[in-house]
Amino acid sequence: MSGYDLTGRRALVTGGARGLGAGMAEALARAGAAVAIGDVREDLGKDTVEALRASGAVAEFVPLDVTDDAQWERAVADTVASLGGLDIVVNNAGIEITSPLADLDPDDARRLLEVNVLGTALGIKHAFRAMRPGGAAGQGGAIVNIASVAATIAFPAIGMYSATKSAVDRLTRVAAMESGKLGYGVRVNCVYPGLVPNEMGTRLANDLVEIGLFPSAEAAVGAVVDLTPQGRLGDSSDMADAVVFLASDAARFITGAGLPVDGGMGM
Ligand SMILES: NC(=O)c1ccc[n+]([C@@H]2O[C@H](COP(=O)([O-])OP(=O)(O)OC[C@H]3O[C@@H](n4cnc5c(N)ncnc54)[C@H](O)[C@@H]3O)[C@@H](O)[C@H]2O)c1
Repeated sequence: MSGYDLTGRRALVTGGARGLGAGMAEALARAGAAVAIGDVREDLGKDTVEALRASGAVAEFVPLDVTDDAQWERAVADTVASLGGLDIVVNNAGIEITSPLADLDPDDARRLLEVNVLGTALGIKHAFRAMRPGGAAGQGGAIVNIASVAATIAFPAIGMYSATKSAVDRLTRVAAMESGKLGYGVRVNCVYPGLVPNEMGTRLANDLVEIGLFPSAEAAVGAVVDLTPQGRLGDSSDMADAVVFLASDAARFITGAGLPVDGGMGM
């Protein structure tokens, strides 16, 4: 349970239907925020919203493919209308496609760039337009982008994914600079999560075995744990608490920062 207070804040979490995004949406709601979940998976997203409502939170689902500019426009307008404003945007939606660079499929590479880089850039665009003075919400706020420990280390078979997460890191810095210089009143930070053994993390471990880099998924996970000073994998709540912190007033003088939440793996 996070100790930060987000009472009265309104948040949009992309890719919040499941996985780390669902955990972030829950943590933001527990801290007092009203939450909209934007995702391509309407089925899962609506279930997650129902669970949030059952716990007493104000929650909405908005259909959103983060690669689509027009869908962003609608999703942000719907969020502002249904929650009564917008103060926090978490650009969490992302995909991972494992491949050694020698076998890179250009279509996979384009898809990674579209979702992870373009999707985050459009999220920053529409968050800025809504939250800056004169925007539909207009009261400033906080953007938290979800990068990855992959942006800070060299791990085999995730070259293209790592490149997209390094791009998220750089987008974060430029966005923070633009927001400050253009008077938007929006802080922009990112988090570098370590490996979490959920759907995405488990598939990565299995892919590494298929590629021949490790004899078993357990060995792949063991290699990650060995590289991690705290000696364990990440947990959804580890990432969610960091997002709540960066979204909260406790981080009021923090912008353009990247926060590793990886047990020390990327140091
Ligand atoms: N799981 C890990 O180990 C790990 C580690 C570091 C970083 N991350 C990052 O954390 C974020 C969340 O990962 P996760 O593990 O929860 O993955 P996940 O696959 O469990 O969840 C991703 C969510 O994003 C949604 N999504 C995918 N494409 C979308 C699109 N075009 N538009 C809108 N929504 C879309 C999916 O429907 C899903 O709900 C990603 O950015 C990922 O790169 C994950």
